[in-house]
Amino acid sequence: MNLHNKTAIITGAAAGIGAASAALFAREGAKVVAVDIDRELLDQISAQIGQVGGECLAVVADVSQRDQVENVLRSTMQKFRRVDILFNNAGIVPTGKLEATSEEQWDRAMAINVKSMYLFCHAVIPLMKVAGGGVILNTASATALRAVTDRACYTATKAAVIGLTKSMALDYVLDNIRVNCLCPGTVETPSLIQRLAAFPDPEEARKNFIARQPMRRFGTAEEIAQAALYLVSPSAEFVTGVAFAIDGGLSI
Ligand SMILES: NC(=O)c1ccc[n+]([C@@H]2O[C@H](COP(=O)([O-])OP(=O)(O)OC[C@H]3O[C@@H](n4cnc5c(N)ncnc54)[C@H](O)[C@@H]3O)[C@@H](O)[C@H]2O)c1
Repeated sequence: MNLHNKTAIITGAAAGIGAASAALFAREGAKVVAVDIDRELLDQISAQIGQVGGECLAVVADVSQRDQVENVLRSTMQKFRRVDILFNNAGIVPTGKLEATSEEQWDRAMAINVKSMYLFCHAVIPLMKVAGGGVILNTASATALRAVTDRACYTATKAAVIGLTKSMALDYVLDNIRVNCLCPGTVETPSLIQRLAAFPDPEEARKNFIARQPMRRFGTAEEIAQAALYLVSPSAEFVTGVAFAIDGGLSI
C-alpha cells in the first residue's frame, strides 16, 4: 500500500476526479479527509469507502471560504493529528468567450479554482513544515497548456494554478514539501456530462468533443486518480514543480 498511514485531504471529493481519487487513496491505505460542498454525494462517497474497510472523514465546506477551510483543518487535526497530502482538486468550469463572462462569474471562478488553493496551502504548509515535509497536488487543466475556444476565464484560472504550483515547488523544496499539478484532458465526469447536456444536441456535441481527442475517447476519472496517486506517493519523491499532462495527447 503506497499511502499507508498517510492522511490526505482531497477537495471536490464528492464527484468525478476527486471521488475516484478518494476511493483509490483509501484503497492504498490513506486516511482520507473528503471535502466538498455537496453534502449528500459526499456522504455517499464516504460510506462507500467505509464499506470496503477504508477510513474517511467527510467535511462539508465551500473551499473558497476561509472560515470553512479552517474548519476542515481543525477537524482533520482533531481526528488524524497530521496532514501528509493535500490534493486541491475542487473546481468549476465557466464557459464562453471573455465578453460573455460577467464580473461575478470571473470572481467566482477565481475564488473556487485559485483562491481556494491559497487558503488551503496557507493553512497546511506550517503543519507540513513542523512534521518535516508533505506533498501538495493541484488540479490544473490541459487547456492551460493548449488553448481551446470558449474557455478564457477557466484557462486563466488553470494557468494561475500552474504558476502557483511551480513557484511554491521552488519556495518549499528545502522544507521537503513537493508541489505538483495535474493537467487532465477531457474526462468523463459529472461536470463534462453537464456541459454536454447544455448543448442543443448533446449527442452531437459528444461526437464533436470526441472527434477532437487524438485517442478518439474521453479519459476516465480513475485514470486521472492513478496519475494523482503516483504524484503524491513516495514513487515520485524526485518529482516537484511539474505540470503533468494526462490528456490522451490533447495538448501535444
Ligand atoms: N472533467 C474534465 O474534463 C476536467 C478536465 C481538466 C481539468 N478538470 C478539473 O478537475 C477538477 C475536478 O473536476 P471534475 O471533472 O471531477 O468535476 P466534477 O464537477 O465532477 O466534480 C467537482 C467537485 O467539486 C465540488 N465543488 C465545486 N465547487 C466547490 C466548492 N466551492 N467547494 C467545495 N467543493 C466544490 C463539486 O461539488 C463536485 O463534487 C476540477 O478542478 C476541474 O477543473 C476537469
